[in-house]
Amino acid sequence: MTAHRNGTRWLRLTALLLVLLPIVFLAGCTLQQYPQSSLNPQADYARQIQGILELQTIWVVIIFALVQGLLIVAVVKFRNRPGAPEPKPVHGNTMLEIAWTIAPAIILTMVAIPTVLTIFKTQENPPPNALNVTVVGHQWWWEFRYPSQNIVTASEMVVPVGKPVRMTIKTADVLHSFWFPAMGGKRDAIGNRENHMWFTPDSIGEFPGQCAELCGTSHANMRMKIRVVPPAEYDAWVAAQQAPPMTPEEGSIEAQGLAIYRTSACIACHTIQGISPGAIGPNLTHVGSRETLAGGMFVNTPDEMEAWIKNAPGRKPGAKMLSLDAMKLKPEQVKPIVAYLQSLK
Ligand code: CUA
Repeated sequence: MTAHRNGTRWLRLTALLLVLLPIVFLAGCTLQQYPQSSLNPQADYARQIQGILELQTIWVVIIFALVQGLLIVAVVKFRNRPGAPEPKPVHGNTMLEIAWTIAPAIILTMVAIPTVLTIFKTQENPPPNALNVTVVGHQWWWEFRYPSQNIVTASEMVVPVGKPVRMTIKTADVLHSFWFPAMGGKRDAIGNRENHMWFTPDSIGEFPGQCAELCGTSHANMRMKIRVVPPAEYDAWVAAQQAPPMTPEEGSIEAQGLAIYRTSACIACHTIQGISPGAIGPNLTHVGSRETLAGGMFVNTPDEMEAWIKNAPGRKPGAKMLSLDAMKLKPEQVKPIVAYLQSLK
């Protein structure tokens, strides 16, 4: 009798958990708190994926309710009663066995058809008016090149709302994976081939992204963002990025910074158009216009930039950016350099 009562208690507890768990799960899904959620589609590609997820969730819930319902009916109806006879053993039931082979096959087909259709749809060629952007993964930051506009920038991608964007995905070193959850699925950046994907962002806003393939020490610090802006704002951004870098006023701290920059080791790794040709680190021609530093790790303020230049390896594990000593810079030379770089809007 005690065992029977215990069994009932466990059954009740399990039933309660089954009801409560999904509620807890749903409560955890507040999207405002987690902007990098893949349940926050802001482009056609991401919406197609979301559509499949919703469709399959509905089926899963129906199947779950059916199976659990039948289970509960069986447990209650055929439970052990005092004085009840031993149940008759059953051996094989051809009809049942055929049914429970065919039913999963039908369910899997229903899952497969929309999935495969969506895969084909997202592999189609982009419309001819698409904006071409090449993204290059580096340890540990993303480079964005706009070949038709002759723009090279880092960590932040700017696109006009409503225009298809065709990404060409490459890497400069190891494997990375390009992923803006709000835009669509992941695509690997592979050494000996170019990968492609395209999407049409449909809402204005800033959406974070992240490298999604373990690529070394600072994999988790390989962040990026996409800024989806109205077309006029995009045109203004393009014009600003195409302009030559600002020339500092003679005698200013920025001019002092430029003079130090020219003689530093910075020029071996960074491009500033017309000033230094380095191509290992991010292009700095308009670094002052960016919102973040160091692969999206820090907000681009003069203080953060100073701290970053003074101790890059200490602030970002494994960073390829050299230490102050290795760059042959004195601590007091950093402030003028920061003033110069910040002026490059
Ligand atoms: Cu690049 Cu992980």
